[in-house]
Amino acid sequence: MSENLGDYRKSYHKASLTLQESDSDPIIQFDRWFKEVESSDSVEEVNAMTLATVGLDGFPKSRVVLLKDYNAQGFTFYTNYNSEKGKAIAANPHICISFFWPELERQVIIKGQARKVSEKQSNTYFQARPKGSQLGALVSPQSEIIPDREFLENRLLVLENEYNDKEIPRPEHWGGFLVAPHEFEFWQGRPNRLHDRIRYTGHKNQWKRERLAP
Ligand SMILES: Cc1cc2nc3c(=O)[nH]c(=O)nc-3n(C[C@H](O)[C@H](O)[C@H](O)COP(=O)(O)O)c2cc1C
Repeated sequence: MSENLGDYRKSYHKASLTLQESDSDPIIQFDRWFKEVESSDSVEEVNAMTLATVGLDGFPKSRVVLLKDYNAQGFTFYTNYNSEKGKAIAANPHICISFFWPELERQVIIKGQARKVSEKQSNTYFQARPKGSQLGALVSPQSEIIPDREFLENRLLVLENEYNDKEIPRPEHWGGFLVAPHEFEFWQGRPNRLHDRIRYTGHKNQWKRERLAP
């Protein structure tokens, strides 16, 4: 099978991002774009982001995770610390997260250093999750090979009984990572492929802003 997608072509015209329009603080700029996407009501999972890690095999791997919090310190997501990504981050905390919001013709790419959040923060978030999601975290040995789907469903039944009327404790291997950013790129689609790209490098209150060629 051969499929030529050469005619898939879209023109971008919805907005612009100049150095003057961008905020000197990239977190504020991120917040501005995030809220604009949120309030546009056109994006279903605004907080879905692609997380790229360098694996133990030396290959980059990316997958989607959900952003659960952002502030001046960075960007937080939750996962299984024993998963493939968890092991990759333990060996090499340099990661990249990116957002693609096609409805607003925007992309944001953030490089940074990931570290585990405090146990207290992971506990608080875990306890706030719906019971089904809590059980899912207990049931699934994320990224391990399992024999079949029944393996998960049987474990779920056992744990549902066990925690029928008890609070479910957060498994130690499940928690948050905070990504402390050191580089941001904001991409806004423009006509004729002359897109706007504003890159920030640096750290807290010491950001340098530059325009990159598209
Ligand atoms: C929309 C979406 C949201 C997801 N959110 C998360 C998440 O927040 N945490 C997580 O561990 N996996 C999440 N996943 C699953 C991951 O993409 C991935 O399959 C899983 O974390 C295992 O990745 P790994 O084997 O590379 O560690 C999500 C997937 C999708 C498509």
